[in-house]
Amino acid sequence: MRRKLFVGNWKMHGSLVANGSLLRDLKAGAREAMEGGDLVVCVPACYLAQCSEILIQSGIALGAQDVSSHAVGPYTGEVSARMLQDFGCKYVIVGHSERREYHGETDEEIAHKAQRAMAAGLTPIVCVGETLAQREAGRTREVINMQMSAFLSVLEPEETNDLIVAYEPIWAIGTGKTATAEMAQEVHAMLREQLVEKSAEAGELVRILYGGSMRPQNAHEILQMPDIDGGLIGGASLKAADFIAIAKAVL
Ligand code: 13P
Repeated sequence: MRRKLFVGNWKMHGSLVANGSLLRDLKAGAREAMEGGDLVVCVPACYLAQCSEILIQSGIALGAQDVSSHAVGPYTGEVSARMLQDFGCKYVIVGHSERREYHGETDEEIAHKAQRAMAAGLTPIVCVGETLAQREAGRTREVINMQMSAFLSVLEPEETNDLIVAYEPIWAIGTGKTATAEMAQEVHAMLREQLVEKSAEAGELVRILYGGSMRPQNAHEILQMPDIDGGLIGGASLKAADFIAIAKAVL
């Protein structure tokens, strides 16, 4: 049985004051929430030092929202996997649809980012998801399949065990619309089949998260599905009570 995982993606939100108060509230409810699964917060890079210090011995893991596909060098503005690891990051989101859309990230670049993260001992949370137009054109399977194959193809079978995959239908992000539990399960089952083809062990071990308007109200139903192993949570992760309630929805 895979332990559930709840990842808060703060995106470009926060301040020194707001982070301090959010994390203090989160720590206060963390013990109960962790009965539901593991907790991670992926914070803006400039706040890693602050958050890492507040989270010491809390059991809540720290993550980043992006990583460079390069190891080191003249890449202005980029942050390397080693740097993230230096600040106590255990996870990093790669290939979020907002990075694909606003920064032109390609499947190939995302695969290299995932590899860099793994080489530095971080667990990449690789995101895939279709647009509304692609879903309406009946292309969901094809699109997801392509995104997933692109990064699986550069990994060795044994590396695949160390991934987290997140299915985030783009039309459900920040819109208040969620995929129904059945719609999400269908895609998650397909993703798991792809993992099994690469490595039976990865098929068993890899946690596949759902993301897109996950809230305390809809979490229970979504998390009942056999191939949904947790959530990648945006808006609701900015409120400690909601993030905790989502993790507890499993219980
Ligand atoms: P929302 O939960 O705000 O829809 O965001 C989902 C997301 O993009 C998490 O990475």
